[in-house]
Amino acid sequence: MSGIGDVHRILAEALAAVGSAQSRPELEAIGVKYIGRKGEITSVLKTLKDLPLEERKAFGAAANEAKVKLETAIAEAVQKFAGPALDPTFDPTLPGIVHRLGVIHPINKTMGQIVASFQRMGFAIAKGPDIETDYYNFEGLNFPPDHPARDMQDTFYVEGGLLLRTHTTPVQVRTLEKVKPPVKCITPGKTFRNEAISTRAYYVFHQVDGFLVDEGVTMADLKGCLVAFCRDFFGEKLKLRFRPSYFPFTEPSAEVDISCFLCNGKGCQLCKFAGWLEILGCGMIDPNVLAKVGYDSEKYTGYAFGMGVERIALLKYMVKDIRLLYENDIRFIRQFL
Ligand code: DAH
Repeated sequence: MSGIGDVHRILAEALAAVGSAQSRPELEAIGVKYIGRKGEITSVLKTLKDLPLEERKAFGAAANEAKVKLETAIAEAVQKFAGPALDPTFDPTLPGIVHRLGVIHPINKTMGQIVASFQRMGFAIAKGPDIETDYYNFEGLNFPPDHPARDMQDTFYVEGGLLLRTHTTPVQVRTLEKVKPPVKCITPGKTFRNEAISTRAYYVFHQVDGFLVDEGVTMADLKGCLVAFCRDFFGEKLKLRFRPSYFPFTEPSAEVDISCFLCNGKGCQLCKFAGWLEILGCGMIDPNVLAKVGYDSEKYTGYAFGMGVERIALLKYMVKDIRLLYENDIRFIRQFL
C-alpha cells in the first residue's frame, strides 16, 4: 500500500528524469512510465478505492496533483525539442530548385569509350609527356633529320630543343624502351600542331595510339583488332577498307575507312557522298623502330595504329565544327549527357 510520501517520491523522480531528458522520445517514455495506462502514478491512483474514506481524499488529491504537475512539466520540456517555427512565407507547393548535374565533356567521353573498347581487348594504358624531345617525336620513329615526312607535322618548338608532341606515337618508343615483348598498349593523350584554326583543325587535339609487339604478329592481327574496335565503337554492320598509305614508323602502312554509319555507305552529307569515312592510320611497326628500342627485329614484329579523338567525336556526334568542342558553351556541352 502506498502513502502520500510515495507519491512525492515518485513525482520527484519523474521530474528529475524530465529535467535530464535529451529528446522528445525520451520525454514520451517518461510519460508512459509514470502516467501511462500502467504508469507508476496511474497505478497509485488505482489503489485509492481500497483506502479508508478519510485517507482517500488527501491521497487522491496528492496523486492527481502529481499527475498534473508531471503532465505540465513534460509538455513544457517537449517545447525545447520542437523544430523551428514554420516560415509563414514558405510555400511548400512551389517547384524546388533543380541542381543540375555536370556532364562529361564530349572529348573525354569519346576518348573514354575508345580506351574502354581496347581495354576489353586486353590493351594496357601507357602515358608519356606532352613536352617531348625531337628523338621520341621524330627520330626514334624513323624520321631522319632531313626527312620530308617531318614537314607533315607543324611542330611547336619550345626552349631547350624540346617540342610539344605532334602525335601520341612517341609513347610507343618510350614504352618499348622500358619493357620486353609481348607488349600490348594504348596511349591516350593530348597532341599539338601549329595549324590555323578551322572547322576541322585546332592547335590542340587528342589522339589514341595503340601497338602490339610479339613473336609472329601479322597484318591479319592488326585487321582483326581494328575490325573488332570499329564494330564495337560504331556498330556491328560496319565494313572496313584498308587503303595503302605512308608513315615513317610503319611498313607497310595503311589508312582505315569505315563504311558511313549514317547512310550505310550509300552516300550522304556526313561522308560527303563517298560512302566512306576515314578514321585512323596504322601499319606494321617498321623494323628500324624496333631495332632502335633494342628489340631483335628478326624475332619480333608488331602492329600500330593511331586515331584522332576529335575527328571521331565529330563524326560520331555529327558535329560540323571542331571549335564547338573547345569553346565550351554550356548549351552545347550539356547535350552530351
Ligand atoms: N601518328 C600518326 C599521326 O599523327 C597516326 C598514326 C599512324 C599512328 C599510324 C600510328 C600508326 O601508331 O601506326 O598522323
